[in-house]
Amino acid sequence: MQLADAIRTIPDHPKPGIMFRDITTLLGDARAFRRAVDELVQPWAGSKIDKVAGIEARGFIVGGAVAHQLSAGFVPIRKKGKLPHDTVSVAYSLEYGLDEIEIHRDAIAPGEKVILVDDLIATGGTALGAVELIRRLGGEVVAACFIIDLPDLGGAARLGDAGVPVRTLVSFS
Ligand code: PRP
Ligand code: ADE
Repeated sequence: MQLADAIRTIPDHPKPGIMFRDITTLLGDARAFRRAVDELVQPWAGSKIDKVAGIEARGFIVGGAVAHQLSAGFVPIRKKGKLPHDTVSVAYSLEYGLDEIEIHRDAIAPGEKVILVDDLIATGGTALGAVELIRRLGGEVVAACFIIDLPDLGGAARLGDAGVPVRTLVSFS
């Protein structure tokens, strides 16, 4: 079984020209979901990771499973206005325009080792914003993990330039 075969592609969603990589089919396939999580965490099996930070919304699903597997805490990084306590926020660029993501100010202690998780990296704007939030709290971003890489959009390379090791499992060009 290839993980790529468990991912559904929907042409022209949410707008013409976009090939939408839909992980709901992978999540619904017990063997594929387990394998994706096992492969993502493999470099850190047995390492001390304090926190896994997952990016809303699909990063919550993958990140929660990764945190459980690494016996780490889970930290949600959410779109602006959703977290109930004191937050730190950062604006980040989307393909068109700007958005904002936030983290609870007390979610990560200085020096904690953090792995960032999302389902997919495209331009890297969202992940770079998340890295900035973790670093502002004093966390060490050990790595960023994604099931899917869209290498033509350059996000993984950008994260590498920012000093973050990147792990991805499936590439679509
Ligand atoms: C998708 C995906 C990543 C982000 C990647 O989320 O889950 O979080 O886009 O794009 P980037 O690398 O260009 O920043 P989306 O913003 O669609 O939000 P959702 O998960 O809430 O649907
Ligand atoms: N987020 C950004 N680009 C995407 C794509 N092509 N498929 C799914 N999620 C995305």
